[in-house]
Amino acid sequence: MATVREKLLHEAQPGKLALARAKVTVVGVGQVGMACAFSILQSGVADDVTLIDVMKDKLQGEVLDLQHGSLFLKTPKIRAAKDYSETADSKLCIITAGVRQREGESRLDLVQRNVEVFKQIVPPLAQYSPDAILLVVSNPVDILTYVAWKLSGFPQERVLGSGTNLDSARFRFLMGERLGIHPSSVHGHIIGEHGDSSVAVWSGANVAGVSLLALNPELETKQDSEGWAKVHQDVVNSAYEVIRLKGYTSWAIGLSVSGLAQSILKNLRSVHPVSTLVKGMHGIDQEVFLSVPSVLGWCGVCGVLNQPLKEMETQQLLQSAKTLWDIQSNLAL
Ligand SMILES: NC(=O)c1ccc[n+]([C@@H]2O[C@H](COP(=O)([O-])OP(=O)(O)OC[C@H]3O[C@@H](n4cnc5c(N)ncnc54)[C@H](O)[C@@H]3O)[C@@H](O)[C@H]2O)c1
Repeated sequence: MATVREKLLHEAQPGKLALARAKVTVVGVGQVGMACAFSILQSGVADDVTLIDVMKDKLQGEVLDLQHGSLFLKTPKIRAAKDYSETADSKLCIITAGVRQREGESRLDLVQRNVEVFKQIVPPLAQYSPDAILLVVSNPVDILTYVAWKLSGFPQERVLGSGTNLDSARFRFLMGERLGIHPSSVHGHIIGEHGDSSVAVWSGANVAGVSLLALNPELETKQDSEGWAKVHQDVVNSAYEVIRLKGYTSWAIGLSVSGLAQSILKNLRSVHPVSTLVKGMHGIDQEVFLSVPSVLGWCGVCGVLNQPLKEMETQQLLQSAKTLWDIQSNLAL
């Protein structure tokens, strides 16, 4: 007896399963993972969004909730993976899973606990999606991107961290607020370590090619009566402020990760400051990941820009590289 489906529909290729062409796996369905998944679904860039987490009920609930919105989305497959075999053939794997700092816990201890989490996640992702690009969001993002690179055995261009992409978005928003111009027209990069030791490259800040530093040569100094240097300070404080007010950050990181996903999956070759292996750049000789302006596309990090830096900016990068390397060389991988 034919089913309703069989009576309704004459299938061109009955029984043949369609393979996803732009499958994205998101590991971790916490605040950040869900904001990433939701932003990617809204962008319509993926044809399969697969989520995975150790908290099975939360995972199931989040996926059901998203599936119920399918009518309003353009992603035919949204699913919860029972195990890593269901993440197979992903084009992009985004890692947002991690544990939070315990009271009195040192940064190094937290990193080591997250390394243990990554040991459960990265090898099976790499096994089932050997051609994927790994995008790390979990903190400390620069160190965990190095860990993901080591654990995956992937070539360096296929492992990147969201790095200062979010810091740069905050930078452009805050400059735009002062100028009364939309952030998309205000250009400027924050590079280096994501967070407290990030570097604002004021020499590149511009609107339509008009350099802000040329308009105000004291822009980045304490002598500047307008206090532009505070913009970078506000960028650094942004996450602390949002966490103080609402307990976590989610929407902006989700939107910024979706932007990275679109550049990668659509091979846009647009430039983003993301965390990539910087050994050999700016005099850095350690195997560390720091954010520099990078061209993103199907190969992952398809290229890195040769960005001229001032001596002080280079020194800050070298200092970050040393700090990261000191931590990394103490990790049990
Ligand atoms: N790079 C950035 O700009 C940026 C911005 C915001 C947050 N973050 C980082 O993102 C991470 C996630 O933040 P959050 O607020 O979503 O945390 P959260 O605690 O809400 O979520 C973490 C999730 O990871 C899951 N998880 C833990 N171990 C796992 C494992 N072995 N396998 C699969 N899933 C596992 C947990 O079950 C949980 O659902 C944190 O490290 C945070 O610091 C990074």
